Amino acid sequence: MNISIAGTGYVGLVTGVCLSEIGYHVTCYDIDEGKVQHMRDGISPIYEPGLEELMKKNIVEGRLHFTSSANEAYEKKDFIFIAVGTPEKEDGSANLQYVEAVAEAIATHATQDTIVITKSTVPVGTNEHVKSILLEKNKNGVQFQVASNPEFLREGSAVYDTFNGDRIVIGADEEEVALKVEALYKPFNLPIVKTSIRSAEMIKYAANAFLATKISFINEMANICERVGANIDDVSSGIGMDKRIGKEFLRAGIGYGGSCFPKDTKALLQLASEKDYTSPMLQSVIEVNDKQRVVLYSKAVEKVGSLTGKKVAVLGLAFKPNTDDIREGASLLLIRELLKDGAHVTVYDPIAMPHVEKEFGDQLVYAGSSIEAITDANLAFIVTEWSDIKSLPLTAYIEYMREPMIFDGRNCYSIEEAKKYPITYLSIGREPIE
Ligand code: UGA
Repeated sequence: MNISIAGTGYVGLVTGVCLSEIGYHVTCYDIDEGKVQHMRDGISPIYEPGLEELMKKNIVEGRLHFTSSANEAYEKKDFIFIAVGTPEKEDGSANLQYVEAVAEAIATHATQDTIVITKSTVPVGTNEHVKSILLEKNKNGVQFQVASNPEFLREGSAVYDTFNGDRIVIGADEEEVALKVEALYKPFNLPIVKTSIRSAEMIKYAANAFLATKISFINEMANICERVGANIDDVSSGIGMDKRIGKEFLRAGIGYGGSCFPKDTKALLQLASEKDYTSPMLQSVIEVNDKQRVVLYSKAVEKVGSLTGKKVAVLGLAFKPNTDDIREGASLLLIRELLKDGAHVTVYDPIAMPHVEKEFGDQLVYAGSSIEAITDANLAFIVTEWSDIKSLPLTAYIEYMREPMIFDGRNCYSIEEAKKYPITYLSIGREPIE
């Protein structure tokens, strides 16, 4: 069985590596020759726990290949996965130019009958569009069939999620195609949902929209908790024990970031509006998140007034722990506001700092540890709950900061713990300690 993956971002690379680990021969294609060269040497372009080890193993065992040649990638393949990005356009809709370019290249280079599987998150109807490109540009008279196979892995636990997912969704309009894709996934031994192409495409958007809704909902509850003197952590566990609600994704914080929820909620809203449906709920989910992402900054301004000349520490830059991805991270919004106000900003993140340095250069000081970042600071913001950040004892803030004033966007410390110390501790959805 010969498999190709177009695109070596999170989804493409992890899928390619995991399929090779199962035993398939996999070729991963990317247009970026430099990146391909690195990957051939077993170097992952993304930080993802466990990925590089599997990459190296499968390269050595001869099952995993990387190429920047479209011909090598698409000729003589049984399955070709499209896993390229679908970035946000200015109007919020998904930009399909990379998906279209891959479809055209497959149509040009394929030399045998192939099933083309779209893994990229794409608007409903895209697979039909892919099929029409494949048919129209078909150069070698081969037969193309298409399937939708959305991906549900999370950054930071992508390899684990691939082997332990809750389900694999296969959207195909022909039974024969669905059965072939199902057989491909059989070794994963995971529950499989077979449905139409359009429903599969919609499942992906609906899943991300639902998870984003849970986050905005709990953040909204946190804001109410702050005003009525309740504790959001207790409220989350209290409601989460109801199986109909479920305990996952009820952590209040500084809103959702990353390359998926912000983009996909907007794309779904845009898709609905193209069909003359304005989704009031999706609009609210996005609006609540936009406000929540700057809530720490608002709390700081309310507390200290002007931030001009203050020495400020920002702990955690990635949009969540265990990734170096800073896309749509609340840290970036916070840093921009702090710099605008004339604060002196020192940042720390165990992995993501180089990406932030690319954007902010010498406007920031880059610390080698949380302690170094908070030393002599007037204010400290906790943005990402990396384990080394959340395990920093509160006494360290007292010892190293000029005045221990902490704005915790991830509720890393319990209120009971914070109350033991002479600190200012403002968190999310809980009583302020001042
Ligand atoms: C998300 C989905 O969880 C994956 O299932 C999906 O495949 C992926 O998007 C995608 O579409 O590619 P990811 O963006 O990697 O995965 O990260 P999550 O772990 O879902 O977190 C997203 C954001 O929500 C983070 O900023 C996180 O801090 C925030 N979050 C999450 C909360 O604020 N509270 C929570 O309870 C959970």
